[in-house]
Amino acid sequence: MSRVPRVATTDPATPFDWRRWCAAQAIPEEETRYLLLELLRLPPSALAAPLYLTGRQTRRLAGWVARRRRGAPLQYITGRAHFFGEMVRVGPGCLVPRPETELLVERALDGLEGGARLLDLATGSGCIALAIAHRRPDVQIVATDRSAAALTWARRNLRGVGVTVHRGDLFAPVAGERFDCICCNPPYVEERAILPSDVRGCEPDAALFSGMDGLDHIRRIVAEAPAHLLPGGRLIMEIGTGQGDAITRLARPHFTEVAIHRDYGNHERIFAGRR
Ligand SMILES: C[S@@+](CC[C@H](N)C(=O)[O-])C[C@H]1O[C@@H](n2cnc3c(N)ncnc32)[C@H](O)[C@@H]1O
Repeated sequence: MSRVPRVATTDPATPFDWRRWCAAQAIPEEETRYLLLELLRLPPSALAAPLYLTGRQTRRLAGWVARRRRGAPLQYITGRAHFFGEMVRVGPGCLVPRPETELLVERALDGLEGGARLLDLATGSGCIALAIAHRRPDVQIVATDRSAAALTWARRNLRGVGVTVHRGDLFAPVAGERFDCICCNPPYVEERAILPSDVRGCEPDAALFSGMDGLDHIRRIVAEAPAHLLPGGRLIMEIGTGQGDAITRLARPHFTEVAIHRDYGNHERIFAGRR
């Protein structure tokens, strides 16, 4: 069993020597800094001024570092993730929102008309629906996912923002319904992919993997989405690097204005198509 690292407690008169402390932990320094700032609910700029921690805070921080050493995702430890300016509650059972997915939100917001109906398919923590709901309260949003555990997080995150949440397999919960925009960040990782240990084995397999080529969900979504789109409606979907050509081939018979958008790392990241 790993020992909990000792943390120097600070009395009210002595600032916490965070640089020395961060460097002494058995996890990367940027991770200790992240945990420290999350614990204190402070922005990075706060590190320019002296920091004072209570004994309770230092013990909590030591506990967090110990959990990270045992492999827990940082955001599961702090219980929250930052996404598109939102604070999203997360934990075991839902995927931690990724920065790349913010591009999906940007694309979905672009061209969304007042009174539009939007489906956030495979909502997970509810991060996409939350980001859109806060910016566009005039849009009717439905969020769905098959995982009961993920939906526990989604319901917490979406409480009071007017998003309807349903559980079920892909489009089953919205049978007979049509939308102006369907956004989706589906599982798209190949089953045999090598992933960091704080992803595979920590985050839910059902949120990550989609068959041998990573396309099982995407094949179904591309084929089934048109029946749930109003004329001119858009499907905006996150994809994996290198999947653009295959998805374009799958989508051409069903969509017009098919496009693959790259993220800021120049990786294929977003599929867009119009019915
Ligand atoms: C990559 S995660 C995306 C979560 C969230 N939208 C985000 O961007 O962080 C994929 C989600 O798809 C859900 N999922 C997997 N298979 C599904 C299915 N057949 N029907 C509905 N949801 C499914 C998982 O439970 C998971 O929450």
